[in-house]
Amino acid sequence: MIKFDLSGQTAIVTGAGRGIGAEIADRFAEAGADVVAAARSTDEIEAVAEAVSAEHGVEAIAVPTNLRNVNDIDSLVEKAVEAFGVPEILINNAGANLPSPPVDTPIEDVDTMIGVNLRGTFLLTQRWAAAYREAGLEEGRVVNISSGTGTIGVPRMTLYGSTNAGINGLTRGWAATLAPDGVTVNAVTPGLVGIDRIRNLLEEQGDAIYELDRIPLGRLAEPEEIADACLFYASNLANYVTGTELFVDGGMTFTAGLYR
Ligand SMILES: NC(=O)c1ccc[n+]([C@@H]2O[C@H](COP(=O)([O-])OP(=O)(O)OC[C@H]3O[C@@H](n4cnc5c(N)ncnc54)[C@H](OP(=O)(O)O)[C@@H]3O)[C@@H](O)[C@H]2O)c1
Repeated sequence: MIKFDLSGQTAIVTGAGRGIGAEIADRFAEAGADVVAAARSTDEIEAVAEAVSAEHGVEAIAVPTNLRNVNDIDSLVEKAVEAFGVPEILINNAGANLPSPPVDTPIEDVDTMIGVNLRGTFLLTQRWAAAYREAGLEEGRVVNISSGTGTIGVPRMTLYGSTNAGINGLTRGWAATLAPDGVTVNAVTPGLVGIDRIRNLLEEQGDAIYELDRIPLGRLAEPEEIADACLFYASNLANYVTGTELFVDGGMTFTAGLYR
């Protein structure tokens, strides 16, 4: 197995308190990176910061952050810089998915999904890029977590999917912008990941909303499989890769299941 070595580097991970983000924080710490865990739930990010530092011997801090608030975003970058210098790695993982038939989606949910997924991701990348340039760093990595719903049409996730299509746009635009600065920007695109929230949802209403037998590889993703794709992008193996999207979805996005 390839061992990734990120020692001496720092990763900001948004949405690090649970789900995929907690797994990313753990995998990056295992690879030797110091971690800045950000999300709104202070107890969750503090628990993740303590756990990864105890288990992997890295430094980790928790910075309570609401990505809908630009002051919080500025403060996240400032606190990360104070603790570690400018982080070489930014993982934009936090996301809001509030499914509903698009004819009924309430305005508050519209604002939340656009506010976190697009506005928050854009502004944090912008603030991080400014700090990166000011510090004169020569090599940086941004990984955005997208979603297969950004490529296919899913009725109950019409707006959520559109924000993920937007994240793919941010990935390409920032990749082009920051390439001269030595920064690569790529997206990891899960299909359906077996975190607690999804497993509970499947137990409650699985058959009504999913046809799991249409996932070509026949199972959900494990969260560490998403984290491993992030590690690949952050590592030297991906030095010449930017502006791309890696689907870690068991084949579900591109095989609509029409033909057997
Ligand atoms: N799970 C899947 O099957 C799946 C599939 C495709 C794509 N994805 C994408 O993968 C990413 C992680 O998903 P997940 O399923 O692990 O998510 P999750 O369990 O729902 O967790 C979402 C994370 O984002 C944070 N977050 C939400 N709103 C925020 C805000 N306003 N400010 C700061 N942080 C905020 C949450 O923390 P707080 O609530 O504490 O703020 C939490 O840590 C998302 O971008 C999602 O779109 C997931």
